[in-house]
Amino acid sequence: MTLPIYVYGSPVLRKVAREVESDESGLDDFIEDLWQTMHQSDGIGLAAPQVGKSMRIFVIDGTPLQEDDPSLKDFKRTFINPEMVERGGDDKTFEEGCLSIPNLREEIVRPEKIKIRYYDRNFNFNEEEHDGIAARIIQHEYDHLQGILFTDRVAPLKKRMLRTKLNAIAKGKFEVNYKVKVAK
Ligand code: NI
Repeated sequence: MTLPIYVYGSPVLRKVAREVESDESGLDDFIEDLWQTMHQSDGIGLAAPQVGKSMRIFVIDGTPLQEDDPSLKDFKRTFINPEMVERGGDDKTFEEGCLSIPNLREEIVRPEKIKIRYYDRNFNFNEEEHDGIAARIIQHEYDHLQGILFTDRVAPLKKRMLRTKLNAIAKGKFEVNYKVKVAK
């Protein structure tokens, strides 16, 4: 089932999401819905708060970007209750976008390397290190679980210019070809 994507201005995007229990009812179906919704909207990552569920889950499919970064060839993951245990390396600038902030892209600075612990779809524990675009997507999605959006991380001078655009998005003044839910 494809779910509507909550856009900028929705309170759920600003909450710290709650931990997930392994025996939660409907969890499998919900994860399937996340994958379907991400693919339907041509996203490379989607976090549960973006579909209105304040839960610590996100999914990533980096394979559409494998031409830019061959290490993304098999990069498909479901992250449950992730914990970012390290961020390091040099700071890198990369242009980000977000399904919850339609038609807006900004250069964002983040560390190039991360180490993350998480449970996968079968509730197996994993610890992984990533760099490059994978680390970038993971950090963006992890932020969603903390109630942080990439636009919070733009340089202060740019923030004022962004405000008008963000206010328009919050009012639903945009066009996309996926289902959305605008806070009223
Ligand atoms: Ni996002």
